[in-house]
Amino acid sequence: MYNQEQILLLQQDTKEWLNDKSPNENNIEALRSVLKFHEYRYYVETNPLISDYEYDLLYKKLVLFEQQNPLLITKDSPTQRVGVGLIKDFPKVQHLVPMLSLENSYNEEDLLDWDRKAKELSGLNEIEYTIEPKFDGASISLVYENNVLVRGVTRGDGETGDDITPNIRQIKSIPLSAAFSNHNIQQIEIRGEVLMNKSNFKKYNDSLMEEGLPPLANPRNAAAGSLRIKDTSIVGKRNLEGFLYHVSYISKTDENKKETLHSHSDILNLLWDLGFKSPKKEMKLVKGIASVINEINAFEKQRDDLPYEIDGLVIKVNDLHLQDQLGMTSHHPRWAIAYKFKARQATSQLLSVEFQVGRTGAVTPVAKIQPVQVGGVTVSSISIHNEEYIKEKQLKILDHILIERSGDVIPQIVKSLIDLRNGSESDIVFPKTCPVCKDQLFKTEEEAVWRCININCKAQVVERIIHFVSKDAMDIKSFGEANVRKFFELGLLKDIPSVFEMDVHKLNSIEGFGAKSIQNLAIAIETSKDQPLHRLIYALGIRYVGETTAKMLAQHISHLTDLESYSEEQLQSIDDVGVKVAKSIFEFFHNADNIEMIKKLEALGVKMESHSIVNKTGSLSGQTFLFTGTLNEMKRSDAETKVEELGGKLLSGVSSKLNYLIAGADAGSKLEKAKKIPSIKILSEQDFLKLILK
Ligand code: IVH
Repeated sequence: MYNQEQILLLQQDTKEWLNDKSPNENNIEALRSVLKFHEYRYYVETNPLISDYEYDLLYKKLVLFEQQNPLLITKDSPTQRVGVGLIKDFPKVQHLVPMLSLENSYNEEDLLDWDRKAKELSGLNEIEYTIEPKFDGASISLVYENNVLVRGVTRGDGETGDDITPNIRQIKSIPLSAAFSNHNIQQIEIRGEVLMNKSNFKKYNDSLMEEGLPPLANPRNAAAGSLRIKDTSIVGKRNLEGFLYHVSYISKTDENKKETLHSHSDILNLLWDLGFKSPKKEMKLVKGIASVINEINAFEKQRDDLPYEIDGLVIKVNDLHLQDQLGMTSHHPRWAIAYKFKARQATSQLLSVEFQVGRTGAVTPVAKIQPVQVGGVTVSSISIHNEEYIKEKQLKILDHILIERSGDVIPQIVKSLIDLRNGSESDIVFPKTCPVCKDQLFKTEEEAVWRCININCKAQVVERIIHFVSKDAMDIKSFGEANVRKFFELGLLKDIPSVFEMDVHKLNSIEGFGAKSIQNLAIAIETSKDQPLHRLIYALGIRYVGETTAKMLAQHISHLTDLESYSEEQLQSIDDVGVKVAKSIFEFFHNADNIEMIKKLEALGVKMESHSIVNKTGSLSGQTFLFTGTLNEMKRSDAETKVEELGGKLLSGVSSKLNYLIAGADAGSKLEKAKKIPSIKILSEQDFLKLILK
């Protein structure tokens, strides 16, 4: 897409724009080109050349200019991906060419058969094939007219699909415009797949579970679901990617000019050169079906190393004339075939349901199933989350079920196989009382889960300790879930602080605990006292506070007890912290038992200071900062991160310790207070930008 010379020029331009260059009518398109270049580097090549912060500065320059000159906004400006708000409905539209399916193959014989037929039909002895991933996402069809993306449509029934253009525009790896006209193309229909990669899927599922919502079974459902969201701004946040691999229709600008696309590999190259994420680099070009079979085996071994899910490979005849000659059935082209990998799905039977009490008191139903192998592991129990989930999946005891284990994600039930019922099935009945402490269970209107609200319920206490010592929290090695349960039963543990009070020497009477393991445990407990603050925050098990939020909180404070004085509003100003999370943190730090516990932990030697690395050589080192009011050019959290990157320290209030107050629009009481302290320098947002760009 960009050659070395262009890259160097664009990078030079980038520097000028990052310095003081200001936009005008004549150079604004150059700024857009710079932004499009960096979007391409980030989203298509995943190899950025500038920091997110620098990109944001350039982007804001464009936004500001376009706000002041609305008539100069272009349809393909990088700013035009911004959501259009709520969509009422997705209108049905007809595809220019029907979207066909692919024939499936599962073994060598199927492929040899397919190759034999293709050779017979074409009269050739050997055919050149391409092999590329079969992306496991949601199929889409895009139309570009005069270089501009005019339509994005779901597959639908193959003939007509839903027009989801506003949502497609949110996917940053799909160009809003591309120079098709340089290739004599006036209108083009392109096919591809929208995906959510494995790591984004995991993050998305974690965030659902943190909110008490059931996770999705696979990234395909996540991608397909995201494309149908009616609030476009949410679609943008899902970090979807678009792979484009097929051209189904072209109308030429000049009918008399000769064809330039002769093969499938030409198409992948063209799409790649025009800025699309095509599987050009993943694609293999080989001669003859024997080589295809060799490549398939090599490909399948790499399946787990890919950043996204694939459910197989697609083998295509490379020559476009030969593709035409082979033609298609009403269902699939004869020039392509899918080779399906071993499914990560399996069927089993739901035998019984157990109810487990978690550390927040949530009672979770867990299905015990007939043990079955899925994607290399034996699954014998599977969480069925809550009553609503059971209703939605129509689950009954003794039902036959389809389960899936996608990537690294815990297995999920895809559906109940209702047609296989024989009348012996029974409803799953939720208990009214806690299966452990027998207290009555409660459920609030806004939640789907039933809870045991007795915070002394043994099950909750044990789960809280298990969470506290776990790998992602305080990481106390050799503690482990089984040991926590054992020590609790023996009365050696009673709550979180007791982890540090435990007399480990009493363990020598327990089988399996020799002097060495006791010593190891004692060392692990002692060293965990120095864990970074974000781990301690996460370990406390505050509802809705996952690892990411814990990190955010730790960055904002210098000592854990600082959180006791934060209001809900102050908490909400922290990235990642919404209304619900802020309320939960606020309540946690206003509960006398929790404050008592924190005091006890500190007295026992647990470190509570923020360990965030201070850059002692940065241009802001030794200086303290506080932001107030609204910033226009950048997000407050980005500005704060920048201060820390440059060695500055953030304070949470105005005091004589403060060096700089950055006052954005509508600054209020903090500004008034700062004015009264002569040593504080008050900066506007522009002054601040100058300071950090120096
Ligand atoms: S080619 C005319 N290539 O798999 C046929 N399809 O199960 C054009 N798919 O409907 C399709 N990866 O949505 C093609 N590399 C790939 C693909 C791919 C995924 C999807 C596509 C198709 C479905 C068939």
